[in-house]
Amino acid sequence: MSSPKIPTAPLGEHGPEAGVQGLGCMGMSFAYGPTDADASRATLERALELGVTLYDTADAYGAGENERFLSPFFRAHRDEILVATKFALAIPPDDPTRRIIRNDAPYIRQAVEASLRRLDVDVIDLYYMHRRDPDVPIEETVGVMAELVREGKVKQLGLSEVTAPELRAAHAVHPIAAVQSEWSLFSRDIEAHVVPAARELGVTLVPYSPLGRGFLTGSFASAEALTADDFRRQQPRFTGENAAANAALLEPVRTVAEAHGATSGQIALAWVHAQAEVHALPVLPIPGTRRPGRVEENTGAVAIELTEEQLSALEPIAAKVSGNRYADMAFTSAGRE
Ligand SMILES: NC(=O)c1ccc[n+]([C@@H]2O[C@H](COP(=O)([O-])OP(=O)(O)OC[C@H]3O[C@@H](n4cnc5c(N)ncnc54)[C@H](OP(=O)(O)O)[C@@H]3O)[C@@H](O)[C@H]2O)c1
Repeated sequence: MSSPKIPTAPLGEHGPEAGVQGLGCMGMSFAYGPTDADASRATLERALELGVTLYDTADAYGAGENERFLSPFFRAHRDEILVATKFALAIPPDDPTRRIIRNDAPYIRQAVEASLRRLDVDVIDLYYMHRRDPDVPIEETVGVMAELVREGKVKQLGLSEVTAPELRAAHAVHPIAAVQSEWSLFSRDIEAHVVPAARELGVTLVPYSPLGRGFLTGSFASAEALTADDFRRQQPRFTGENAAANAALLEPVRTVAEAHGATSGQIALAWVHAQAEVHALPVLPIPGTRRPGRVEENTGAVAIELTEEQLSALEPIAAKVSGNRYADMAFTSAGRE
């Protein structure tokens, strides 16, 4: 089926152009309940037809399973797509259920080889540090990542959940193409420092969880309705009284959606896309879905232009959200600011 393709945005100051919306692939193996491999494969193919070229994974998603699952798709379309993966959430030898943050050179060297093997590609287009270990100087970590670029294992570097000073220090060692952080109508803390630093340095912003992990689509009923292995059962915004309070915040999103004949999810994504103009930098969100129909819906948001009045109606939502975006905020840049 031929489809009109979404427009593109630059991935880093000197980087390639990528479809202005990427695809988050985490849920295809991990975090959000039962998966359907056939539907996920169909989602990947449909995304590509629609002009989505940046595909986001990490070694931590299902302990390598997500990278393995994606490898046939990546191999089949190697020249048409950009592969983004991440290191830093390591499995300690004594407890496979836990994750520890590692930013040290021996770990990075081992992680990149393992990702290249699982992905079955010669080079990773965008390699992110997934989380920051404050005990390792960021200059040291990025120094090792820069060696991977020189060795041809990695094309561009990214950092996830870094503070503005961490981003500046890293960028002084080697150009950083992208910062990946949570950014949505529900999560706007990065606008204070990280976004201005990214604009100044020519770094592309890659918002993750732009649908608020699904909450902003209006389809979340209650934490009890989620399966036992669903990560959101541990997320403060999805549980107890917070869930009901946050659901009540979606009214203006629904009103704007009605005005556009769109869904709430599309308005949430259109808001994220609109931040490119508001903050004058490339913004390339990576909503996650495992369903082809939803990738059509989500890419459809790219064409929605919100008016000033509509942006104003959506403006107060984030400040009213109940519950932090992670149970442990040390896991975020805001927790270190
Ligand atoms: N750097 C980091 O630390 C970090 C953290 C979290 C995520 N990420 C990356 O960011 C990507 C996106 O974030 P996310 O998956 O956490 O959250 P998200 O994109 O905000 O939301 C994903 C959730 O929304 C549902 N959904 C998607 N489109 C929908 C639609 N049109 N209508 C109704 N529901 C819809 C998905 O369910 P279905 O799959 O069933 O459609 C899934 O449950 C991940 O896949 C991952 O690659 C990175």
